[in-house]
Amino acid sequence: MSVSRYKTGKGKRDSNLRKFTRFLLQWQPGPQIDRSTLKIAPRVSELKASGNSATQRAALMAAGFMQVPVENNCADVWQFSLAADDSTVTRHALMLSSDELERAYKHKSTNGFRQFVVARSMLRQLLAIYTGVSPAKLAFAYGPHGKPELTGGPSVQFNLAHSGDRAIYAIANKQPVGVDIERIGRTVNSQRLAKRFFSTAEYEALQGISPTSRQQAFFRLWTGKEAIVKVTGKGLAQLIGKFEITNPFGYPALIISRESPQLEKIRLYYPDPGEGYIAAVALLPAQNSR
Ligand SMILES: CC(C)(COP(=O)(O)OP(=O)(O)OC[C@H]1O[C@@H](n2cnc3c(N)ncnc32)[C@H](O)[C@@H]1OP(=O)(O)O)[C@@H](O)C(=O)NCCC(=O)NCCS
Repeated sequence: MSVSRYKTGKGKRDSNLRKFTRFLLQWQPGPQIDRSTLKIAPRVSELKASGNSATQRAALMAAGFMQVPVENNCADVWQFSLAADDSTVTRHALMLSSDELERAYKHKSTNGFRQFVVARSMLRQLLAIYTGVSPAKLAFAYGPHGKPELTGGPSVQFNLAHSGDRAIYAIANKQPVGVDIERIGRTVNSQRLAKRFFSTAEYEALQGISPTSRQQAFFRLWTGKEAIVKVTGKGLAQLIGKFEITNPFGYPALIISRESPQLEKIRLYYPDPGEGYIAAVALLPAQNSR
């Protein structure tokens, strides 16, 4: 999503939904309301994790998730369409915790607001299937740069990203994971962004691509770099200049970093989320694995 941050322009606010969020925020001031007893969750939340991956997959697909195959099945990658009508957004808003509602409320654009609400509600439902904990009871903690993780219960490694009306989720067993998705059918000043954020070698590799494919190649590098940043839990500003993706348009993409050998252990994959989008998944081998 971050490329679009460099665009200017504010969307209109959706006053009814925002009023509803404010109402929800006032309505649940403390822990005395147990949201898990509210029978409003979409049907996937009714299902219990069975430990049987075929059952889990079926439950997720029934809820509207689409699986995105990734090399070596190194992670489970799911995507979800965030397009939703008002009543669906409202139903999703009821799934969120107070701090999530507060974050939703802070979004200035209608789309940002709606997409955040749906993406977070579906994150809860996805993790419920993987952990067996009901969606509303899952609790999150955040790293110093905002990376969410599960706290106080069964743990899985996960990450999410959204762009356009698409959310992508990556779940890994023990390995820290980072994911990014970008919608590619829109105009961004890729030349300027590449000059600013890419290494000289990456920039030159991009110039070697034919102009017709360059925009797509730019997004491939961009998503790869974001997924790498996100696997570490750091921010773009801290890490973007500290590593380079070699062979960015081939397989495997390799990472070199003069400053952090840890970054070179990261494995980068490009699952195909379908037309109009590019996605990347980065995995950091668990510390005790080779
Ligand atoms: C992490 C970062 C690269 C994500 O980029 P983005 O294009 O804005 O957003 P994406 O769609 O790719 O991903 C957003 C999701 O990534 C997750 N996320 C947020 N920060 C993250 C981080 N540092 N690492 C990994 N994942 C992160 C969140 O789940 C977020 O979704 P949600 O908030 O809607 O639940 C960017 O936001 C960043 O650099 N953040 C750091 C900011 C920072 O350093 N803050 C310090 C003071 S708090």
